[in-house]
Amino acid sequence: MKLAIPKERRAHEARVAATPDTVKKLVGLGIEVVVEKDAGAAARYTDQAYQDAGAKIAATAEETYAGADIVFKVRRPLTKDEGEDEIGLIKSGAILVAMLDPYQARDAVDLYAKGNITAFAMEFMPRITRAQSMDVLSSQSNLAGYRAVLDAAYEFGRAMPMMMTAAGTVAPAKVMVLGAGVAGLQAIATARRLGAIVSATDVRLAAKEQVESLGAKFVMVDSEEAREAETAGGYAKEMSDEYKKKQAELVAKTLKQQDIAICTALIPGKKAPVLITDEMVTSMKPGSVIVDLAVEQGGNCTLSKPGEVVEVNGVKIIGHLNMPSRVATDASALYAKNLLNFLTPLVDKESGKLTIDWEDEIIKGTALTRDGQVVHPALGQGS
Ligand code: NAI
Repeated sequence: MKLAIPKERRAHEARVAATPDTVKKLVGLGIEVVVEKDAGAAARYTDQAYQDAGAKIAATAEETYAGADIVFKVRRPLTKDEGEDEIGLIKSGAILVAMLDPYQARDAVDLYAKGNITAFAMEFMPRITRAQSMDVLSSQSNLAGYRAVLDAAYEFGRAMPMMMTAAGTVAPAKVMVLGAGVAGLQAIATARRLGAIVSATDVRLAAKEQVESLGAKFVMVDSEEAREAETAGGYAKEMSDEYKKKQAELVAKTLKQQDIAICTALIPGKKAPVLITDEMVTSMKPGSVIVDLAVEQGGNCTLSKPGEVVEVNGVKIIGHLNMPSRVATDASALYAKNLLNFLTPLVDKESGKLTIDWEDEIIKGTALTRDGQVVHPALGQGS
């Protein structure tokens, strides 16, 4: 069985879907691993290290994909319309495992079906105990939350911790985290480690205890709706207009007193909720910093711009794209481990072949296409 690790071709992508460490384990499963030349270079994994772990290095994308039964990628393969037909290089009957962005890139799902590719979207991993080690959203969001705080600290013209010096006292920075999921909780922990005074908000009541256990203050709209704000999968629902109004009042009041806001609020499959309006930005002190981690899903802040750092009335708004890629070495290591953990149970130890149980919750949750058809219930039949 051949497994391909192509070089990532999308802009702002420094990660890679396998590390020398996971290659070694894949080879141990009896799999022949082919890594495209320089696939790990941006994440600081050298071709030599992959070779030492047992991989072959292929000079081109064509050579990498040729005859591969399994393709591991970080981001979805390029389509012909995007300039390079990576999907066309995947052989019929092969398995593709990646973050396929199925809601936003719905047309590509039809292309996988057309090419008879069995595509697994890692973002759809069910949040069950058995799948925790395969949960790419958690592994990547955690690093994104960490990096967001460091990026904020970098743009902030003041110090984060309180410092008492002979020349005077530096007050600690006040940080507010909007959305206390995986990224938000790591942002809280990181800001606390830097010495900031941290508060956080979320629509899910379950977040309260987690926020408080990290030493931050939890602020939330007092409403019955919050008790039902969480789906069975642990994600947030979209809230009512009345709730949104109350939340806007709460955020407006709290934000005025903050130095830094880290926005991480997302609703799966939907546009990110707007939490910081133009007026709220203007109400912040000059020198304040906002990091909008939701910028690629429409943004939590109305003034954030994808891929840019903008300044409005002295408030800097950071809209960096692909935050996990800014910590590419660790993000790749964790992502590669997630993929290895997904594949390992599918490899039959006796025959070395893949055996997929199509009734398994993990398979059912992540499989987008099978036998030339789109099979995921969340995607419908497509165009
Ligand atoms: P996410 O990335 O979809 O959203 C980030 C956060 O934004 C969530 O906490 C969400 O409640 C919040 N949010 C959404 N709309 C909001 C609004 N209007 N105002 C304020 N906050 C808003 O979620 P994430 O981080 O992927 O996970 C959410 C939760 O899932 C975690 O906190 C955890 O409880 C659970 N989880 C469970 C896992 C498991 O059991 N295997 C693994 C990872 C997470």
